[in-house]
Amino acid sequence: MKPIQLKHAYRLINHGPVVLLSAEHAGMRDIMAVAWNMPLDFEPARLLVVLDKTSNTRKLVEGSGTFGISIPTRSQVNTIMSVGSISASELPSKDKFLHWNLATTPATHIQAPLLNESVGWLECKVINEPHNQSTYDLFIAEIVAAYADERVFSNGRWHFDDHEEMRTVHYTSGGSFFTTGSSFHIDKKTV
Ligand SMILES: Cc1cc2nc3c(=O)[nH]c(=O)nc-3n(C[C@H](O)[C@H](O)[C@H](O)COP(=O)(O)O)c2cc1C
Repeated sequence: MKPIQLKHAYRLINHGPVVLLSAEHAGMRDIMAVAWNMPLDFEPARLLVVLDKTSNTRKLVEGSGTFGISIPTRSQVNTIMSVGSISASELPSKDKFLHWNLATTPATHIQAPLLNESVGWLECKVINEPHNQSTYDLFIAEIVAAYADERVFSNGRWHFDDHEEMRTVHYTSGGSFFTTGSSFHIDKKTV
């Protein structure tokens, strides 16, 4: 993973992929799928996510004030559905990473496990907005570090064409996804 300039961090999620959001607090860690995420600002880099009140991961986010985002690929859809379909609190180990043997890398600027095999990582600090959080389940956060896999993201652009299984995925509902399609570029000056 290569560090990305924070002013370009939004580009990792601008195309709307489903992400995996992880958090760690008081000796507990958890991870959940989050389709409802989007960039919010360039500098300082910010994003927003919607985290339902039933989610155990949300409790860890509230406790730590931080979370990690891992951008999974087509080859990780089983993991996406697994961590997005059951709460850690329902597992015997209470730990999805142990339960599904998920390999992680520690975040650099916050305390959170980031999922290996992902093509992008964002490290985030919550900007506390209690009204939005309690009324709309909406969490705004500043991105304090960003990384991407050079094989599919370089010069500020995704390029998946030579790496089919590394394409990111978009969620509709009920287990249905799209993979990110082929890219094309329009020169702004010619429009
Ligand atoms: C593809 C997918 C996308 C999801 N997107 C969201 C979302 O945007 N926000 C949310 O609160 N839950 C979302 N969920 C549900 C959570 O991931 C799910 O409730 C998870 O089991 C919570 O786990 P936890 O209780 O261990 O945190 C999604 C689930 C799937 C399968």
